[in-house]
Amino acid sequence: MKPLRIAIIGVGVMGQRHAETFRRLPDAQLVAVMDVDAHRAQEAGSHYSVPAFTDLTALLDEAAPEAICICTPDWAHRAPAIAAAKRGVHLLIEKPLATTLEDADAIITAAQAAGVTLMVGHILRFDPRYAVAHAAVASGDIGRLTYMYARRHNLIDSGLRFRGGTTVVNFLGIHDLDMMLWCADSPIEEVHAIGTRGALADLGVDDGVLATIKFQNGVMGCLDVHWAMPPGAMPLDAEFKLIGTAGQVRVDGTLGAVQINVGNTSQFPDTVYAPAPSGTIGALAAQNAHFIQCVRTGKRPLVDGSTARRAVVLATLIHESLGARTVVRQDGLDQ
Ligand SMILES: NC(=O)c1ccc[n+]([C@@H]2O[C@H](COP(=O)([O-])OP(=O)(O)OC[C@H]3O[C@@H](n4cnc5c(N)ncnc54)[C@H](O)[C@@H]3O)[C@@H](O)[C@H]2O)c1
Repeated sequence: MKPLRIAIIGVGVMGQRHAETFRRLPDAQLVAVMDVDAHRAQEAGSHYSVPAFTDLTALLDEAAPEAICICTPDWAHRAPAIAAAKRGVHLLIEKPLATTLEDADAIITAAQAAGVTLMVGHILRFDPRYAVAHAAVASGDIGRLTYMYARRHNLIDSGLRFRGGTTVVNFLGIHDLDMMLWCADSPIEEVHAIGTRGALADLGVDDGVLATIKFQNGVMGCLDVHWAMPPGAMPLDAEFKLIGTAGQVRVDGTLGAVQINVGNTSQFPDTVYAPAPSGTIGALAAQNAHFIQCVRTGKRPLVDGSTARRAVVLATLIHESLGARTVVRQDGLDQ
């Protein structure tokens, strides 16, 4: 079978990783890139030797992709998704599916109406460390799951890059919310969240958020996310812990397995998600190969629209709780 013709929409940090990965996957053919930033589009086009566009309609007309991979910022997934779906183009959308339920539903409806594959890049499901943790829960090996704790802390570059356009919950927390929903396998009962403002206060967003989630089956989750760690720290500090009635699983989700020191600097190369030297191994390659297989066979993706929507619901509830600021104070109690 011929390789799947795919174009990348938005060639920033993640779009470039996808371009590199699709370029090297044997079942894919990178046919074009598009970015509203003309300079960035041109640079990526010449780097990957494919036509570059600043307009999506022109890309769809001239490059005729069978699928697009949407790597625009969190709040800008809806427009390209709907325009492409209407042309019968399959969709791989970076997480989160959307930042509002209205956008999420519009994308899902458009994909369903067009009969195209819609998959969302919740990459932890393709990270062997996290997939093994889910399997230990699903198999019953740790008994009945009762408690989940997820930490994800990023350098301040991430917090600054979006200039207040998205939140730490939408950008980082959504990864762990999807994992919690996958592992708890239950509807949500209640959510409580608090946030702290500091280095990113001028952008109007929280540096960090702590959220507790109770699921209807009694499982409890605690989310701990932060995107303002100082430059120079290990770029991704992450953990996922699951405790059940008969055992526990702990995932070290950091990118700290390899450390390179030159002079006074430390580098922590990515050996898990999109390992640069190959582009055909790692979680991103596994995820994107799964997408291609789903498009080719019509199989339902591991993270389709309705699955990804559940993480958007949970993020929405966390944002509502942050806004409501309902707290129980200790004022009336002797201590
Ligand atoms: N799976 C992961 O591990 C992971 C990691 C980082 C980012 N992401 C996700 O990838 C997406 C992109 O994040 P990023 O870090 O690459 O952001 P980025 O700011 O580095 O890149 C976004 C690019 O999209 C372009 N753009 C903006 N609006 C556009 C539009 N309407 N049409 C075309 N291009 C447009 C920008 O000019 C920019 O080049 C986000 O949804 C983010 O949450 C996922």
